[in-house]
Amino acid sequence: MKPISILTTIKERRSIHTFKEDIVDSEILKDIFSYGTYAPTHYMKEPWNIKLYQEDGKTKLIDAIMASYERIGMIKDSENPKSVKMIQSMRTFLGKIPHHAVIYFPIEDDPVRYEEEYAAVCAFIQNVQLVAWEFGVGVLWTITPYMHDPGFLHDIDLDPDMVKVAAVLQMGYPAKIPHNKGRTSIEEKLEIIKE
Ligand SMILES: Cc1cc2nc3c(=O)[nH]c(=O)nc-3n(C[C@H](O)[C@H](O)[C@H](O)COP(=O)(O)O)c2cc1C
Repeated sequence: MKPISILTTIKERRSIHTFKEDIVDSEILKDIFSYGTYAPTHYMKEPWNIKLYQEDGKTKLIDAIMASYERIGMIKDSENPKSVKMIQSMRTFLGKIPHHAVIYFPIEDDPVRYEEEYAAVCAFIQNVQLVAWEFGVGVLWTITPYMHDPGFLHDIDLDPDMVKVAAVLQMGYPAKIPHNKGRTSIEEKLEIIKE
């Protein structure tokens, strides 16, 4: 890996929506997640956990996603030919993504602690995205309705009373890199109060 400036990586990283079908070597993925863990974490709780689905393992996740879409009404009447076609195309779409990383953390009852853990997990995710970019690996950070469905968590062997799913990261080598949409000037966001 050729090291590039963190400043360049921050600006050049893009969310990736289309992936090549090749899987990323497990050692590379371990390295990426390992760098991610240097995120700040209050009380050194390191709340991030990852379930990484790839190859035949994806079937379990995709089955859980489809069952959840039916439960929450995003897929109506699954016997209907139109729904059957839609389910099939969603399965194909998800199945072509080389890796799906479910990121979850232990639920804290105290709202301040809960926010600390969620914030640390988000810092972890952004580290992962940036490091992945340096390794030539693309990531899409997704938040989807099934993450709020307790049945989905059960189906992937998580206890919804104990853990919260923060995100599902789609990962793989980019097939296409979207253009840089840029950002609003910080002048419009920053207020400096001096007195
Ligand atoms: C918390 C979070 C959730 C996101 N969820 C989705 C998502 O579900 N689907 C999606 O296509 N992009 C999702 N994105 C990616 C954004 O669409 C993306 O960051 C934005 O368009 C800017 O593009 P860039 O990351 O390439 O700069 C999410 C980003 C964040 C931070």
